[in-house]
Amino acid sequence: MSDLVGQIERIREDALAAVAAARTTQELEDARVRFLGRKAELPNLLRGVADLPPQERGAVGKLANEVRSGADAAITARGAELELEELRERLEHDRVDVTLPGTPPAPIGRLHLLTATRREIEDVFCGLGFTVVEGPEVELVSYNFDALNHDPAHPARARTDTFYVEAPAGAPPRADEVLLRTHTSPMQTRAMQRQPPPIAIVVPGRVYRRDSDATHTPQFHQIEGLAVDEDITLADLKGTLLAFARAIFGDEREVRLRPHFFPFTEPSVEVDVSCFQCGGSGTRTPAHERCNLCKGTGWLEILGSGMVDPNVFAWVRDHGYDPERHQGFAFGMGIERIAMLKHGVPDLRLFYDNDVRFLRQFG
Ligand code: DAH
Repeated sequence: MSDLVGQIERIREDALAAVAAARTTQELEDARVRFLGRKAELPNLLRGVADLPPQERGAVGKLANEVRSGADAAITARGAELELEELRERLEHDRVDVTLPGTPPAPIGRLHLLTATRREIEDVFCGLGFTVVEGPEVELVSYNFDALNHDPAHPARARTDTFYVEAPAGAPPRADEVLLRTHTSPMQTRAMQRQPPPIAIVVPGRVYRRDSDATHTPQFHQIEGLAVDEDITLADLKGTLLAFARAIFGDEREVRLRPHFFPFTEPSVEVDVSCFQCGGSGTRTPAHERCNLCKGTGWLEILGSGMVDPNVFAWVRDHGYDPERHQGFAFGMGIERIAMLKHGVPDLRLFYDNDVRFLRQFG
C-alpha cells in the first residue's frame, strides 16, 4: 500500500510541477492529458484500488481522489492565468486595428482665388434665399441681346467686341446667330422661362469679350442676380446688396447707388461700396495721404444693377411674368473685380498665369 501511496504522492508532485511549468494553454492541456487523461497513470492506479485489501481501499481511494481534484483545480487556475496572458499578448500584437479607415493623405493644393471668391459670393446669396443656377456659355443672340432689350445698333453686338460662332460651311441659315455670351444676363430670361415667379437666383459663370489688357481678359467671370415677385422695390435691391457688401467687405461697409444706364433695367444703377481700406474717408491715417484703393473718393464700384425693365418681362409673359404685375431687381458683378478689390490683386492676368507663388497666397 505504501508503494501505491508513494506513487500517488509522486504523481501529485509531478502534476503540480507540470501545471506550474506550463507556458501556454496548449502545454497545460498536454499536462492535463498526461496526468488526468483516460490513459494516464492516476486513473489507472484508481482502477487498481479495487484489487487492494478492503481496509486499504478507503485511504488510497481518498488520497487519489484528492490528488485528482487538486490537480484539476490547479489546471483550472493556471488555465485562467494563461488565457489572460495570451489575451493580453494578442491585444498587444493586434494593436493596429485594420478595420479603421486609413490615414488620409495630407491635403495638397487649394482652391483658386476665383473659385474661392465665387463660392463665397454664392454662400452669401444662398443665405439670403437665392438659388444658384448655371447656363450655357455658347448662347443665342436673342438671349444675349434681344431679350435683354438691347437696341439693334447696340455696340456690344459688333463683331469687333463679341466672339460669334460661325455656322459650319453649307449649314442651313440660322434664324438666330450664335455667340459666346458677353455677360451672364441671358440667364435671366432662360431662368424665367423655366420657373414662374417668384424667383430669386444667382448665376455664376464664364463670359467672353474681345478685350485684352491689364484690366481685361477675353474670358472672365460674372455673377448675375435676379429677384422677381409682385412687390419687390429698389429698397429690396439696396438692402440685398448692402448685406452682400458687408458679408464680403466687412460689417462697417455702406453702399451707394448712382444712376446709370443698362438696356434691361429701368431705372439702372451702378453700386459702390464704401472703401474698406480708408473706411470711406478717402484718406489714409496717419499721414492723411490719398487712399490708393479708392483714389481718394471713399467709394469702390462693385457692380451694375437696376429694376427689371418691363420689356424683359414681356419676353417671358407666356411663362407667368406680367409686366403690369411683376417687378424685380437684377444685378451683375465681375468675380475677378471683387477678388482684386478684396485681396489687392494688382493685375487681372495674375488669375490666369497659374504661377503658384501667386496662387499659394490665398485659400
Ligand atoms: N450685364 C451687365 C454687364 O455685363 C451687368 C449688369 C448690369 C447685370 C445691370 C445686371 C444688371 O443684371 O441689372 O456689364
